[in-house]
Amino acid sequence: MRRLAEKSYKVEQWELVKPAILHGKAGAVILRECFGITDREFLEAVSCHTTGMPGMSDLAKIVYIADYIEPNRKHDGKTIVNMNDGRSLEQVFNAVVEEKYRSLSAAQKQPAPPTELLMEEIVYKRRD
Ligand SMILES: [Fe+2]
Repeated sequence: MRRLAEKSYKVEQWELVKPAILHGKAGAVILRECFGITDREFLEAVSCHTTGMPGMSDLAKIVYIADYIEPNRKHDGKTIVNMNDGRSLEQVFNAVVEEKYRSLSAAQKQPAPPTELLMEEIVYKRRD
């Protein structure tokens, strides 16, 4: 966390409640500082993969989905992320976001503000 602050990454109050969520931002800092990665879309994809956020690129959506189905998760994300069922990236991404949101609600945990905004975006787009 200190390293993030040193690198001018603002740490929000809600991130301090669940510091594990900061590994996205920390990963982006490490990629930039240690590996010289400067591609903004790539860094943003890594940075926001823990919470999501409105306006995510396709790359960011793919990283978000990959994080959800990584083998060490307690849930079986593959039931949500079956890419062979004809759904688009957007549809699978939305399903993952909605499932993560539902799980947080079921556990009576407050979604991070960017997650709330992402859900609003999904609901808004669905109305169109
Ligand atoms: Fe992660």
